[in-house]
Amino acid sequence: AEAEAETNPELYEHFANLVSSLPSSDGMSRLPLHRHEQGWYLHKMAMVGAMVADACFAARPSDILVATAPKAGTTWLKALLYATVHRREHPADAADHPFNSLGPHECVKFLEMQLFTGDRIPNLDKLPDPRLFSTHLPFVALPKSVVSSGCKILYVCREPKDNLISMWQMANKAKAKHGVEPMPIEAAVEFFCDGLMPFGPYWDHVLGYWRAHLAHPDRVLFFKYEEIQRDPAAHVRKLAEFVGCPFGGAEDDDAVDAIVRICSFDHLSGLEVTKRGETNLGAVGHVDNTTFFRRGGVGDWANHISPEMARRIDAITAAKFKDSGLSV
Ligand code: A3P
Repeated sequence: AEAEAETNPELYEHFANLVSSLPSSDGMSRLPLHRHEQGWYLHKMAMVGAMVADACFAARPSDILVATAPKAGTTWLKALLYATVHRREHPADAADHPFNSLGPHECVKFLEMQLFTGDRIPNLDKLPDPRLFSTHLPFVALPKSVVSSGCKILYVCREPKDNLISMWQMANKAKAKHGVEPMPIEAAVEFFCDGLMPFGPYWDHVLGYWRAHLAHPDRVLFFKYEEIQRDPAAHVRKLAEFVGCPFGGAEDDDAVDAIVRICSFDHLSGLEVTKRGETNLGAVGHVDNTTFFRRGGVGDWANHISPEMARRIDAITAAKFKDSGLSV
């Protein structure tokens, strides 16, 4: 764990005033979304956390950062990264594996929601290399030291309609907890198309990291949720190689399979720490760990989104991703 945090309420207040001066509107979230000058949206406290992280986080070249849009597969990628990097001290099949007591979000924390939050400036210097962190921030908004350090970034994107449905379901769960009516799917689609989701617009988020991956494939690894589903073992091997701890040949197949198994939806969602635990997401509040596990499949959008709405989203995706070389 990180050492004692210092506090800097003045710095937080400075950025809180700045964020308060930005335009805000309702969106796919319980809290209003502020529009950053760079063109992305976020609720106030997390945007403040992002600004403090930008000012204070000192990245190292050896750091590894999981970057995702919310609901794209963050929990899964955090688990895969942690289990892979720590496989020598914590073999995946060990009875006392950390996952039995800590959820993936405790093992790999969000910079802007868990580390730089409240009035805290966490002391991360003593953490051993490689330090593992995560963020939902768009590429343009990454703390400057992340980009200048050249540290490794793992990105996962998810099919937009599935990403939207997963986000809509989570937002409605949060609303229900606070006694607020659920959002009709039509409104959710409208917000999504307007980019009004936390850390959105979705398309800018994906394209930012896609372009960074094309420019620096050794620094930014780009996965797709659906492809990990199709062949998780191949992705564990790619991830391990990318972060500099590759598996050997076929003799390591059992180790790779064990990691795939302990990071699987069925395994993680069945653990006591998931069923009974919660995660403090700072700005967003305390969330039950079950929130991070719903269905874990591909194509659930078809159960909620009409063909007409789907065509609208697909048309935006085609237009935005045209000539980028990316298809989802
Ligand atoms: P659904 O809502 O479609 O089920 P995030 O981790 O970015 O918050 O994304 C959550 C989505 O990933 C949810 O999708 C959740 O069920 C799914 N998910 C969580 N853990 C997973 C795992 N280990 N394997 C596959 N999918 C997982």
